[in-house]
Amino acid sequence: MPRVIRTAVFPVAGRGTRFLPATKASPKEMLPVVDKPLIQYAVEEALAAGAENLVFITGSSKRAIEDHFDSDLELEAALAQQGKQELLETLRGILPRQANCIYIRQAAPLGLGHAVLCARPVVGNEPFFVHLADDLIDAAVPCLAQMAAVHARHGGSVLGVQTVLAAETEKYGIVAADPESERVSVVSRIVEKPKPGQAPSTLAVVGRYILSAGIFSKLEKLGRGAGGEIQLTDGIAALLGDEPVRAYAFEGKRYDCGSKLGYLEATVEYALKHPELGADFARYLTERLARGL
Ligand code: UTP
Repeated sequence: MPRVIRTAVFPVAGRGTRFLPATKASPKEMLPVVDKPLIQYAVEEALAAGAENLVFITGSSKRAIEDHFDSDLELEAALAQQGKQELLETLRGILPRQANCIYIRQAAPLGLGHAVLCARPVVGNEPFFVHLADDLIDAAVPCLAQMAAVHARHGGSVLGVQTVLAAETEKYGIVAADPESERVSVVSRIVEKPKPGQAPSTLAVVGRYILSAGIFSKLEKLGRGAGGEIQLTDGIAALLGDEPVRAYAFEGKRYDCGSKLGYLEATVEYALKHPELGADFARYLTERLARGL
């Protein structure tokens, strides 16, 4: 039986406090990197990996995400009238016709684990993607597609991982894992935000997951963990006893767009690669750097 994953879950109900005041009334996931919001990069990655059902776990002040993926017939008519065909095509291309958008409210931001649990009624009994839009990954083969290939080979759950500095383990879920093949290892332990020195490794889980539906029964039994939140990491730790969970060291460059510095780095790199802007922006940066920092 082919192991195709049809559903992607986008937890977008976090408060985004690190970006206040920008995120007071509008979602972090709508921050643009050059000319596309983070959530659109996320959706494009999931579609490229074969997802058709896009489940957004939303909360207060997140209406702009729904508006972004709805068609805006008035705007389209105005652009058509002004002969702005290219912009019109861009708008129409935001979402392919076969994609279904489903919005579920997380009544209170109780944590990432709780947000994922909110998707249960839609996901049912199949494996699914979880994508955190503020981790932007620039890769020749989209990260979720790389992970889907691992899942097609082995089944089970797959976590996107990256080696981080020993001093930074406190920001991540960290795994202990036994290498199985190139880039793939079998997870034996996972800990949320361990202090440097107490971490089982420097292999950090970033915002990409393929999870088996078994995660739901684990999440619903959890109490609050680190930071008083229901942690996805704790759900995965419980799953480890029952099912194989693999870590996959993806190919690509990750930008932590939940932090201001990571967001700025992504903006510069994506601007330099932009087909219309790249050359002019490179010229500007070169001149600017010549004047010294
Ligand atoms: P973060 O840890 O980045 O938290 O959440 P945050 O609230 O978005 O941002 P800061 O730290 O306050 O700046 C990781 C992911 O989990 C989602 C967030 O939207 C983000 O994609 N999340 C978190 C939820 O959907 N619900 C929650 O209750 C918590």
